[in-house]
Amino acid sequence: MLVAPSILSADFGNLAHDVKAICDAGCDLVHVDVMDGHFVPNLTIGPVVVEAVAKVATKPLDIHLMVENNNFFVDLFAPIKPKYISFHIESERHANRLANKIRELGISPAVVLNPHTPIENVEYLLEYVDMVLLMSVNPGFGGQKFIPSVIERAMRLKELILQKNPECLIEVDGGVNDKNVKELKNAGVDIVVAGSYVYKHPKGIKEAISSLKV
Ligand code: DX5
Ligand code: ZN
Repeated sequence: MLVAPSILSADFGNLAHDVKAICDAGCDLVHVDVMDGHFVPNLTIGPVVVEAVAKVATKPLDIHLMVENNNFFVDLFAPIKPKYISFHIESERHANRLANKIRELGISPAVVLNPHTPIENVEYLLEYVDMVLLMSVNPGFGGQKFIPSVIERAMRLKELILQKNPECLIEVDGGVNDKNVKELKNAGVDIVVAGSYVYKHPKGIKEAISSLKV
């Protein structure tokens, strides 16, 4: 399992320290949650802060857009050269056009589904993206409870991926911890995002990340 800690649960007063800490502890990607106050009822960080994160991160960035105007935000974040930019299918009318645009910018495109969005809504997009992110909470906040139906959804998605684009990865985001990571692995999930579990683990960040590498 690859591990992408979410810096949403970091101490923003000591962000550089908290980004270095997850990289030194062996994370695979640095997950960056971008919220616009419209698509989700919360606001986070823009390109100025993400640029600063990119400067200290020694692992690639995984930018998760939770916004209404994806096109505008892709243009804002593309110069930072993250590995992934993921956009929500629920806020995008021209999904394969946007996926192609992200790829032309030299970034891997990924699409995200909220917990209630049918998997079939992205079936014809699978050949255009490098990753599908399944939300296991309703996006907007860290520290929410894992919605277990994501396990069955990951298994269905894996079947479609094997037919349409076997290279495409599955990422799961929200409420991930050492109790559910095994089941996610067995369901075909490649990458887990974990925020509060990693940053608030009583034994520290390193222990938390290792416990997710199943
Ligand atoms: C939620 C974000 C997540 C969040 C995960 O909207 O997309 O990345 O930070 O936090 P935890 O792991 O605490 O649920
Ligand atoms: Zn996220």
